[in-house]
Amino acid sequence: MCGIVGYIGKKNCVPILINGLKRLEYRGYDSAGIGIINNGNSKIVKNKGKVSVLEENVNNLQLTANIGIGHTRWATHGIPNEINAHPHSNESGSLFIIHNGIIENYRTIKTDLQNLGYKFTSDTDSEVLVHLIDYFINKGYDLCKAVQFALNEVVGTYGIAVIYNNEPDKLIAARKGSPLVVGLGENENFIASDVSALLSYTKQIVYLDDGELAVITKDGFTVKTISDKEIQKEVHEISISLEEIDKSGYPHFMLKEIMEQPDSVWNSMRGRLLHEEGTAKLGGISEVMDRLVNSNRIILSACGTSWHAGLVGEYMIENLTQIPTEVEYASEFRYRNPIISKDDTVILISQSGETADTLAALREAKNRGALVLGICNVVGSTIARESEAGVYIHAGPEIGVASTKAFTSQLVVLALITLLVARKKNLSAAEGRVIVEALQDLPEKVYQCLKLNETIEQIANEFKDASNFLYLGRGYNFPVALEGALKLKEISYIHAEGYPAAEMKHGPIALIDENLPVVFIAPKDSTYEKVVSNIEEVKARGGRLIAIASENDNDIDELVDYSIKIPDTVEMLRPILTSIPLQLLAYHIAVKKGLNVDQPRNLAKSVTVE
Ligand code: AGP
Repeated sequence: MCGIVGYIGKKNCVPILINGLKRLEYRGYDSAGIGIINNGNSKIVKNKGKVSVLEENVNNLQLTANIGIGHTRWATHGIPNEINAHPHSNESGSLFIIHNGIIENYRTIKTDLQNLGYKFTSDTDSEVLVHLIDYFINKGYDLCKAVQFALNEVVGTYGIAVIYNNEPDKLIAARKGSPLVVGLGENENFIASDVSALLSYTKQIVYLDDGELAVITKDGFTVKTISDKEIQKEVHEISISLEEIDKSGYPHFMLKEIMEQPDSVWNSMRGRLLHEEGTAKLGGISEVMDRLVNSNRIILSACGTSWHAGLVGEYMIENLTQIPTEVEYASEFRYRNPIISKDDTVILISQSGETADTLAALREAKNRGALVLGICNVVGSTIARESEAGVYIHAGPEIGVASTKAFTSQLVVLALITLLVARKKNLSAAEGRVIVEALQDLPEKVYQCLKLNETIEQIANEFKDASNFLYLGRGYNFPVALEGALKLKEISYIHAEGYPAAEMKHGPIALIDENLPVVFIAPKDSTYEKVVSNIEEVKARGGRLIAIASENDNDIDELVDYSIKIPDTVEMLRPILTSIPLQLLAYHIAVKKGLNVDQPRNLAKSVTVE
């Protein structure tokens, strides 16, 4: 998703903008630019490609200014090139805007403005905003009013920052559907699309909500609605440290985050285990426990990896609480006219807490009266704030586009919620204590899985040139198969499919030949014997076999080409362990292919557009 950063204050904004954009690179982008105002002179520098190219261009120009905005663009309308990069300016070059989101009615606005004589240079939807604001300024309105009037004309989503030559003492920011935070400093203030861009400068943050506009000066800020109603906002102190968003010596954020999982898994359960009572303690949902426990139905809704976590959660919740549970792609759920009542609970799962489809699903469920809970990683994110209640996963900042530690922490939190509800229904204290003990032992077992890193790297060597992969599993292992396939395809660009192992004979078995690597998630569980039969079916057809197996399984070795043995745990927690070798397999294959593991092509860390 696009990255936004802005500064107004006593320092030279140029290095601050560049450093901020570097912190936002992980979000995925294809072009970058900055716009500054200095003593009535304004300047835009922008380019296709990386922030490093922009930095070189900017350094050659030796620019200085006390107010400026910067943007990394993830193209939605208009190819990645210099003209389509942001900032966009009005014709006189006195007004600059950067935008994250989609202006759905941009064609209508563009035609109206062209009929008024406005000339467009780019193919983007965003450019209409700068000319629309210019139009209202020419009507005699000041910058703030002009932005408010312009945004009233807009249908769609936006996170914008605007600066104007004739009002160089203020920076305007506004949001609807694309996150924005205001950072507060001493004689300086900031704006950004997420806090990581500001961490070097301030930890005092104000989160803007949809429909809000901030007027930011070097001495302070005011927040209004776009209908000009002033709003008091709370200032938050954020706890993330800089080292948490650095690579700390790892070659990639993704590897760092995979290796952090003993800690991140522990942090997701820290202070939440009640050993004696055999249950969990989750303050974030304590107020709504009665409604949750007595839900007619639970719907888990999410996208991508978070949706896979939901599929595991479905098995957990139904097995232990007997509450009927469904999992829905958020993008489908929001348009499907779902049958939801006030007796249902809808749980949104989102690492970023900003995914547009998941946020829309939340609002749809809320509108229909369901109890709406959020399971998020980013504190203060929109989904977290708009949920009635929820549980943070506390995995720490996840910078790599491919989600790893957030996935395993989502599973921990789903297990905690399941345990808490089940113990209020028919799970005994003794049964609960078994799960609590298994959770307590999990970080060490995660660490044991990570010790397989070198073995898995060697296996990756054998398969880095494959053009297709099949991942198969049954029961709890089926969502892990889907997740393993997604990890591989999103960072190595190798086509990979996840399937229920039993489904193979209904079609995919036609794919099996000596060129097709087939990964079985085959721990010794209730479906193991059936999965062994599937392994033999693949072996009989010459498929290349990799198995994620239990460390005490000595039979599987003669069946497969490579067996990756992992420690065991209770059935509902096994996906946390079986997914880790698949994360490492995908990582090493992508690295051996020389690909950009942290910022895969076409992908964004948080998809804040539909
Ligand atoms: C996972 O590796 C992908 N980056 C992607 O599928 C991601 O899980 C999805 O976009 C949902 O993101 P969220 O958890 O932040 O809502």
